[in-house]
Amino acid sequence: MEKVSIVYWSQTGNTEAMAKMIAKGVEEAGAKAELIQVSDANADELLKLPGFAIGCPAMGAEELEDAEVEPFVASIEGKVSGKSLLLFGSYDWGDGEWMRIWQDRMTAKGASLVTGEGVIANNSPDAEAEAKLKAAGAELAKL
Ligand SMILES: Cc1cc2nc3c(=O)[nH]c(=O)nc-3n(C[C@H](O)[C@H](O)[C@H](O)COP(=O)(O)O)c2cc1C
Repeated sequence: MEKVSIVYWSQTGNTEAMAKMIAKGVEEAGAKAELIQVSDANADELLKLPGFAIGCPAMGAEELEDAEVEPFVASIEGKVSGKSLLLFGSYDWGDGEWMRIWQDRMTAKGASLVTGEGVIANNSPDAEAEAKLKAAGAELAKL
């Protein structure tokens, strides 16, 4: 893809930092990256693409953020069959359960995950997470 869309929601900046690392990987692979807050995301436009990234931290009790992300994901989940999704997000005290639930939900609807599984970071993304996010961004750029 010439342009990779990276949709995200972030309250304290950790998932946003992850989105920027994906964008760096996309750009290093020679494509353009577009960072989109989930409240500005256009589901119809995104679903015309072969794939895109969506980021959300663990919120609630191992849930997606419920005011913006959950309705957005619910609105696209019936249409993600055949799409390549890069799921990512930050968490704190849990063990990544929210991401396991989210990725199972998307793959059950026929989506494939760009790196085989969602990319998670404990709080602020460290160097290991950065490497994974950049590699995942480069993979998205190749679609
Ligand atoms: C209301 C609320 C609920 C949260 N629930 C969880 C949770 O269930 N599991 C977890 O590991 N972290 C949980 N967290 C921690 C956030 O996922 C963590 O602070 C994350 O880094 C926030 O990402 P952000 O900076 O992109 O907003 C919660 C935080 C808040 C404010």
